[in-house]
Amino acid sequence: MSDRLVSAAREPEDVQFEAGLRPRLLDEYVGQDRVRENLSVSIAAARQRGEALDHVLLYGPPGLGKTTLALVIANELTVPVRSTAGPVLERPGDLAAILTNLQPNEVLFIDEIHRLTPAIEEILYPAMEDYELDIVIGQGPGARSVKVPLQRFTLIGATTRTGLLTSPLRSRFGIVHRLDFYTSADMLEIVLRSARILKVDIDDEAAREIAGRTRGTPRIANRLLRRVRDYAQVRADGRITLDVARRALDLLDVDEHGFDEVDRRLLRAIIEKFNGGPVGVNTLAASLSEERDAIEDIYEPFLMQIGFLERTPRGRVATARAYEYFGLLPPRKDMKLW
Ligand SMILES: Nc1ncnc2c1ncn2[C@@H]1O[C@H](COP(=O)(O)OP(=O)(O)OP(=O)(O)O)[C@@H](O)[C@H]1O
Ligand SMILES: [Mg+2]
Repeated sequence: MSDRLVSAAREPEDVQFEAGLRPRLLDEYVGQDRVRENLSVSIAAARQRGEALDHVLLYGPPGLGKTTLALVIANELTVPVRSTAGPVLERPGDLAAILTNLQPNEVLFIDEIHRLTPAIEEILYPAMEDYELDIVIGQGPGARSVKVPLQRFTLIGATTRTGLLTSPLRSRFGIVHRLDFYTSADMLEIVLRSARILKVDIDDEAAREIAGRTRGTPRIANRLLRRVRDYAQVRADGRITLDVARRALDLLDVDEHGFDEVDRRLLRAIIEKFNGGPVGVNTLAASLSEERDAIEDIYEPFLMQIGFLERTPRGRVATARAYEYFGLLPPRKDMKLW
């Protein structure tokens, strides 16, 4: 699914593009008001005391701004930040080397923190709790454990689902925030902000049209804007009017909900192959030839958010709204057909 336009997952072509659009300060970070407000208090307090900020865990679906927020936090703390990721930290020595080299109050950002190995997590516990490393020297009966003190630091972890974290790790974060899908007003602001930075000429109604098809996800907003800009340049005079935006988005096969073929296939499968559900996620994944993780992390959260899909203990269920979307009548669950 790497060529899926409205996937929230990061694609290689996003990387360079996103760097220039990333907000650097809390004030530039659009939306997530409650999270922002809480963080600004915690950050101000830590700065006043000259201490390291408590460890922060950020979770939520891809593309909502976890990495961006981690960098904003470090920037607001005016401390250096070192970034790594769960799958990159293979050997305990890798993490020990990073930890012993941290500056006082530095931010260590670990992306995909749910993918740490148990051995790495073991190192992290005393580091987070007591700012020390437990190192075992030697082997057998002569082995002894030494404690190496570390600078005080702030660990910021990001993950798409907290459910994937072990509970000892989760419990060591003093500040935990969930990022939600953005409102349409926020998405409009993000589209306009990105257009301003990219010096794209865009009408307000056109920005609203794009914002409405972004699945409440800034990464998708930036990607759609980029594609619509191309279209405006090649098929029009460069200006993104409402008409240009609509034609471009239709050509890109992104509908008014921000659905593409994958969403429609998923909903259709539940409705047509499984009678509207409930269907287990593994069965659903197999019938679509998609990864279960991709379904749970990328497709489902948004479909649930807008009320097209429900997760029940017995599996996934298509809602009446999903039926209506395809012009179908929802089955009458109260009617027994015998
Ligand atoms: N609150 C925001 N305001 C403006 N732009 C934002 C905001 N959040 C994210 N963005 C934009 O969306 C892009 C993607 O955000 P980011 O990489 O931080 O998402 P993520 O949650 O870390 O995703 P992943 O789970 O894939 O790592 C950023 O480059 C940034 O330009
Ligand atoms: Mg990220």
